[in-house]
Amino acid sequence: MNYGELRLRIRPFLMLLAIPAIMCACHSASENINDVEEQITTLISKMTLKEKIAMIHANSSFTSAGVERLGIPELVTSDGPHGVRPEHGRDWVLDSAANDAGTYLPTGNLLAATWNPEIGYAFGAVLGSEAKERGKDVILGPGINVMRSPLCGRNFEYLSEDPFLISRMAIGYIRGVQDQDVSACVKHYAANNEEVDRNAVDVLMSERALREIYLPGFKAAVTEADVNTVMGSYNKFRGQYATHNDYLVNKILKGEWKFRGVLMSDWGAVHNTIEAVKNGTDLEMGTDLSMLPKPDYNKFFMADSLLGLVSKGVVPETLIDEKVRRILRIMFKTKMLGKNKREAGSRNTPEHQATALKIAEEGIVLLKNEGEVLPLKRAAIKTVAVIGENANRENAMGGGSSQVRAKYEITPLQGIKKLLGGGVSVSYSRGYKIVKNQQADATLISEAVAAAKKADVAILVVGWTHGYDYAVWDDNAYDAEGVDKPNLDMPFGQNELIKAVLAANPNTVVVLSGGGPIDVRQWVNKAPAILEMWYAGMEGGNALAKILFGEVNPSGKLPMTFPQKLEDSPAHKFGDFPGVNNVARYKDDIYVGYRYFDTYKVTPQFAFGHGLSYTSFKYSDVKTRKEKDSVVVHLKIKNTGKVNGAEVVQLYVKQEKSAEKRPEKELKAFKKVYLATGESRDIELRLGKDAFQYFSEKNHRWLAEPGMFDLLIGSSSRDIRQRTSISYLEN
Ligand code: BGC
Repeated sequence: MNYGELRLRIRPFLMLLAIPAIMCACHSASENINDVEEQITTLISKMTLKEKIAMIHANSSFTSAGVERLGIPELVTSDGPHGVRPEHGRDWVLDSAANDAGTYLPTGNLLAATWNPEIGYAFGAVLGSEAKERGKDVILGPGINVMRSPLCGRNFEYLSEDPFLISRMAIGYIRGVQDQDVSACVKHYAANNEEVDRNAVDVLMSERALREIYLPGFKAAVTEADVNTVMGSYNKFRGQYATHNDYLVNKILKGEWKFRGVLMSDWGAVHNTIEAVKNGTDLEMGTDLSMLPKPDYNKFFMADSLLGLVSKGVVPETLIDEKVRRILRIMFKTKMLGKNKREAGSRNTPEHQATALKIAEEGIVLLKNEGEVLPLKRAAIKTVAVIGENANRENAMGGGSSQVRAKYEITPLQGIKKLLGGGVSVSYSRGYKIVKNQQADATLISEAVAAAKKADVAILVVGWTHGYDYAVWDDNAYDAEGVDKPNLDMPFGQNELIKAVLAANPNTVVVLSGGGPIDVRQWVNKAPAILEMWYAGMEGGNALAKILFGEVNPSGKLPMTFPQKLEDSPAHKFGDFPGVNNVARYKDDIYVGYRYFDTYKVTPQFAFGHGLSYTSFKYSDVKTRKEKDSVVVHLKIKNTGKVNGAEVVQLYVKQEKSAEKRPEKELKAFKKVYLATGESRDIELRLGKDAFQYFSEKNHRWLAEPGMFDLLIGSSSRDIRQRTSISYLEN
C-alpha cells in the first residue's frame, strides 16, 4: 500500500472524526449560562421539597425521577464503558426480548494502547450516539482507575498505569460522548484499585501519590474535558467513604477543581444520609439487592429519611437545592431541557462498526517478533492451525456491569477464516477448557499438537477470560467486576499447551487475550512471535487477522508494564495488596508501574510503552525551544522500513538531581505519527510547567525544583532513541 492508498484508507475514518467536531461547534452555540442558571432558579422555586428529594435518588435500577408537571424528564443512565448495556427493565431483570444489541467497542486497555486521543474521541462519539438512540442521558464511563496491580479484576475496563496517558485518552473519550449531547460519567472517584473488598477497603496513601498518580485523570476530566458527571467509588479513603468524602468531593472535586456537574454514587455506595448530603453526593444510585425483587427506592439514604431531616430543619433545604441545580444544569447542557433539542442518535451503523475495527487495529500490540515470523506470508501458507478456546469465544457479555449485547462479534477464528477465504485450510482445536479449576487436558493438548504439526503455521489464542459461562457475575472469573485475579499464572493448563505446540511447530504465533499482564516466563523465550489483543470488541477477530497477515501494520503500545512475575509489581513487592483487615496502605507510593520498574531497576517482561511494528523508525534532530510557559521539543521521525506504519513518539522527563524523591522518568508528552515508507516528518511536542513539577507535601502545592532535566524521547519507556537536557528554573 502506498501513501496515497494509506490516506484513502484512513479518510473515511477522519471524516468520522470530523462529524462530531462540527457538532462540537453547534454545541458551544447552546444557551447562555446566565439564562440557564436563571431558568434553573425558576424551576427550583416551583418545586416541592418532595419533588426535589425524588430527583436526587434512584427510582429504578438506572433512572432518577423528573418532575412531570414542570416538564423535567427522568435522568436515564446506562453502563458503559465500552458499549451501551442491555436493558434491565426498571428493577434489574435483564430484558432478553429488548431490542438492545449494539456496537461492542474494544475495552479500556485496548483503547489506551492506541495512544491516540482522536481514537478516544471517535470511541466516545460512537458510545454517545448509541446511548442517545437508546434513550440514555448518561453513559457510565470512562473507567479510569489507575492500574496499580495487574491483579485488579476491572483493569480490563480501565486505561493505564500512567496518569498522563489516562488523562489524554479520557479527555478524548469524554468530549466524544458529550459532543453527542449525552453526559459522560468518569468513574470511580477515587482510589478504587482493587475489587475483592471494594465495598469495605479503606485506602491510605500519601498526599503525593494521590496528587501525582491517582487524581490527575479525574482532574483532567473535570478541568479540561468539562465532564458532566463523576461517579463516587465504593471504597473508603482515609477513613471515610469516597462517595461522601469531604476531602475528595467537597475540597478537591468541587472546591479546587470547581466541578459544576453531578457527583453520583456508585450503585449502593452511599452509607450515611447526613454525610452524603453534606459531603457533596448529589445523586444516590443503586439497588440494595436485599430489597429485590421489589426494591423500595424510598428507603434510600437520600430519600424519605432525608425528607424527614429537611422537614425537621436538621438539613437545610438549600443543600438539596444545590444538588437539584447540578442535575438540572447537566440536563440543560445535554439538551434534555431548554430551547435546543437533541439530534437523533444512531446505532449499529457501518460507521460505528468501522470505528470499532479501526480502534482494534490501532490498539493490538506486537510484543515480540523474532526472525520476522510476522506478518504471515499468505501466499506461502496452505494450512493454519488455530488453537485455544479463546479463539472461539465471545466476550461482549462478560465482566459485570460493562457487559454489552453485541450486534455481532467476530472471534479470532472467524476473523482468520474470513480473511483467508476458501484457499487455505484452517483447523481449530480447543486446546484447553475454560472451566473452573481446570488443569491441562492431555487429550485436548495432543489434538492441538497433531493439528500444529500438520500446519504451516499455528496460531495460539490464550490468556484470561471474563468468566466461565457468560455470567454477569462469576466469582471465579479473572477479568470481572467484584473479583481480583489470585495470581498471574496462566489458568486452565495453558502453559502446558503452549509449550507442547511450540515444540511441535516452531512457526507458532501466540496471541494473548484479556485484561493485561499474565506470567509468560515458561515459554516466552521459545515463542518467536507474541501479540496482545486484549478484549478487542466486535471487530476484534477481523483486526487480529489483518495484523497477522500484514494487511494492517500494528501500532499499539502497552499502556501498562508487563512484569516478569507478580512479586516484581510494586503493589506486591511493597506488600499490601489487597490490604490487611480491609485497610490498604499504598506503600508503593508514587512508584506505580514503570515509575517503580525504572527507578528500582527491575527488568520488566515487556516495558510500558512497548509495541513493535512491521517497519522501522529513525529518530533524529532533536531541538528544544523555550516559550513563555512551555518547552517545545522538535524532532524528525522517518519511516525507514518497507511498509507504511505509525509510531508513538514518547517523551519522558527526568530530573537529573533533586532534593525531593522523583521517579527515574515520567511520561509528559506523546504523539502518534503515521508515515508512509521513506516518509519523514518534523514533529513538535510541548511540555507545560506541570511537566517539571512534583506535588510538594510541605507546601501543599505543585512545585518544580530548579535544575537540569533530561528529555528522553523514544519508542517505549525502555527504548530511548534521543535525549537532550535543559535547565529549568521557573516555578
Ligand atoms: C459498578 C459501576 C457501574 C454500576 C451500574 C457498579 O457495580 O461499580 O461501574 O456503573 O454498577 O451498573
